[in-house]
Amino acid sequence: MVERIERSNTNSVKYNPKAIENLCGNPNAEPFWVADMDLASPNAANEALVATAQLGLYGYPAFDGLDQAFIDWVRMRHSCTLSKTDVVVSPGILASIAVMTELLPGKDVIIPRPAYKPFVDIARNHGRRIHDWPLSYDREEGRFDLDFAALEEIASRPGSKILYFCSPHNPSGRVWNRAELEKTAEICKKYDIVVFSDEIHCDLTFPSQHHTPFFEVAREMDLECIVFMAPSKTFNIAGEHFSATVFTDLSTREAFSTYLEKMRMGEISLFSGTAALACYKHGYNWLMELTAYLEDNAKLIGDFLKTQLPQVRFIMPQASFVTFLDCSQVRTMLQNAGKDIDLVHFFGKEASVAMNAGPWFGEGYEDFLRFNYGTDKNHILEALKRMKKAVEGIPS
Ligand SMILES: Cc1ncc(COP(=O)(O)O)c(C=O)c1O
Repeated sequence: MVERIERSNTNSVKYNPKAIENLCGNPNAEPFWVADMDLASPNAANEALVATAQLGLYGYPAFDGLDQAFIDWVRMRHSCTLSKTDVVVSPGILASIAVMTELLPGKDVIIPRPAYKPFVDIARNHGRRIHDWPLSYDREEGRFDLDFAALEEIASRPGSKILYFCSPHNPSGRVWNRAELEKTAEICKKYDIVVFSDEIHCDLTFPSQHHTPFFEVAREMDLECIVFMAPSKTFNIAGEHFSATVFTDLSTREAFSTYLEKMRMGEISLFSGTAALACYKHGYNWLMELTAYLEDNAKLIGDFLKTQLPQVRFIMPQASFVTFLDCSQVRTMLQNAGKDIDLVHFFGKEASVAMNAGPWFGEGYEDFLRFNYGTDKNHILEALKRMKKAVEGIPS
């Protein structure tokens, strides 16, 4: 059963008043920002963690079969067959992307925009030239798409490159279909671009949609690709860093493992391994219920905005629990009213709703906010009602 948990005063960054104040100027705003859910993890995870804690000691762990549990999961959830030689158990997606970037020196990085900001931070921290690849945006439809002509132009620029692909896409919630992946792979193959496919949100693909792991397409097309997956978003266990990295190329896999060993980064903590193992083995039915619930939440938001708050346009997601709200009309209303306030502070202060600001995902997204709907319907509806009231209060 999907159950919301009250998280104030639980060492959650999402609920940290100082962090919320920094974000939107109101420490008491209700958080709809950081990408974790307010919904309880599967019982299987709780039981395994409680049993571990009840032992009353926390020594070095050894997990048998973590890689196999991941492989079985990917077969069950995505009908994708992997073997042990394709996979390395890893200490988190961002750490793994950073390591892989380190291992491919001198390559520029292509980043689809809007982008999860840590992608940009990693590329910058490694001194890489960044090529922004803006997604096309259809304001009428409220939909983001891949712009292949733009990718081809960027790919053809001088210099060797990596593509940081995000599939499904954060923040738009788009699930890329097989044809879109094939077209992306075709261009990358033509220009010898290595694809990093961050698929952290893939298990949360809605029941009405289908996720194709990039690995499958890359394998068929003989393109080098590294796929990053994790149970963290799936089962709401992101505080326990753990991921799995999948390789099409054995020598790259070897280099990755060696680097983790060299930097002493490869060890999985007792609690993260325990939670991951329990979720992969016993979390499937829970996840099926959750994805149906999240798709329902998305429909609820879409209906509310369409009928009651048409000044805010919903970017209909196809996966996960975050999406963009297009607030361009509200921004214009604020400007016309002579109010010198950005959207995140406006809704934070006037509606007590804390969301991520569009510019966090790149220049040019000042009209957008990212809304996290990984909570129960009542809290979503109450937040939307407060937003409606705030918008109605803008003098015309
Ligand atoms: C696209 C994407 N990649 C990576 C992460 C973080 O992954 P990790 O905590 O495993 O480093 C997030 C978290 O929001 C994310 O949305």
